[in-house]
Amino acid sequence: MAEQISVQPESEAATVVPVALSERRYDVVIGDGLIDDAGRRLKALLPAARWAVISDENVARLHLPRLAQALQRHGVYLGEIVVPPGEASKCFATLDGLCQRLLTLGVERGDCVLAFGGGVVGDLAGFAASILRRGVHLVQLPTSLLAQVDSAIGGKTGIDTPQGKNLIGSFYQPALVLADLGVLETLPERELKAGYAEIVKYGLIADAEFFAWLERVWRKVLLAGPTEQRRRAIATSASAKADVVAEDEFERSGARALLNLGHTFGHALEAFAGYSERLLHGEAIAIGMALAFRYSAERGLCAGEDAARVKRHFDAVGLPTAISQIPGGKPTAAEMLALMAQDKKVKGGKLNLILARGIGAAFVEEDVAMDQLTDFLQRECGG
Ligand SMILES: NC(=O)c1ccc[n+]([C@@H]2O[C@H](COP(=O)([O-])OP(=O)(O)OC[C@H]3O[C@@H](n4cnc5c(N)ncnc54)[C@H](O)[C@@H]3O)[C@@H](O)[C@H]2O)c1
Ligand SMILES: [Zn+2]
Repeated sequence: MAEQISVQPESEAATVVPVALSERRYDVVIGDGLIDDAGRRLKALLPAARWAVISDENVARLHLPRLAQALQRHGVYLGEIVVPPGEASKCFATLDGLCQRLLTLGVERGDCVLAFGGGVVGDLAGFAASILRRGVHLVQLPTSLLAQVDSAIGGKTGIDTPQGKNLIGSFYQPALVLADLGVLETLPERELKAGYAEIVKYGLIADAEFFAWLERVWRKVLLAGPTEQRRRAIATSASAKADVVAEDEFERSGARALLNLGHTFGHALEAFAGYSERLLHGEAIAIGMALAFRYSAERGLCAGEDAARVKRHFDAVGLPTAISQIPGGKPTAAEMLALMAQDKKVKGGKLNLILARGIGAAFVEEDVAMDQLTDFLQRECGG
């Protein structure tokens, strides 16, 4: 819950969220200006390691000089590798070049790869760290809001293939996550909003008070820079993700499944839009969450007012809530169902969906009744 986060304020400037895995634990540190102090923290955590940074062109241009300077002071900085921005970099060809360049830089078993970027860099660099010399240390320095509240935490790494997204990868936990609020200042507003959709998700899944708090203060979280409210929203989200990851590190028990609220609908919409600028992941899952609540209300599982509240909040923020809002055309119900069937949440031909009994009360519905869902999608897709 937002007003009393179960995390320790480390100092005025940083909040620490522990990720308590059974074998080891690591911290997610959230604060303004952490980049400038990254070397000191790394040295304290991994005294014998040398460091190599992986970033993308956008983040490197804006923030790498500062990070490199902060690291160089410690005399163990091996250098940096910069990849093109965008999902296309999560591929075997980029991974190949990256691994070879890490070896050329001289990265050895006890050294550390620093992933400095959004979720693309985090997933790619994390996977490279997991296979290079059978595993080198990894530290995540997430620079997009989505990466700070979601992808940098939890150890899922990987790349895409023509067969689908994230089909090649590993579970590989970082030794530390440093989420610097200052770097978010250069993130385009559309990306910021897309990341905000994941923050709302944690409220909708299991924390009604957090959602109600976001309804009140979202402008300070989203529009006003590195505010206390933004730090609190990121820390609450990181804490929610950390709890789920600690319970179900390898996605075996099912606890992690709830994090997919809005994602089965959302992934289908992203696939329909060709994973392009037409529809960002966060925008797709905002629509997906609105659909999950409308479908739940229609089935009598949750109050219609809860579905209306979800829509009102995304409307206010400027996130889409309907399939008809996707620019450049919408899928038919049949196309949606076919794309949803390809999503990895389908097991043995049965579709599982995350639905809700109310705000903060998501649950997994196994083996969804397809006739009802088809009917619903026909109305949502307009045919
Ligand atoms: N591993 C996981 O658990 C997990 C979870 C969710 C998503 N993901 C993955 O994350 C990826 C999406 O992440 P994303 O939304 O961060 O996308 P991204 O990494 O492509 O970043 C979005 C854009 O913002 C730019 N950017 C990032 N930080 C910036 C900054 N501070 N200032 C200016 N520009 C900046 C990037 O260059 C890029 O153009 C997808 O590949 C998805 O599969 C992984
Ligand atoms: Zn997501």
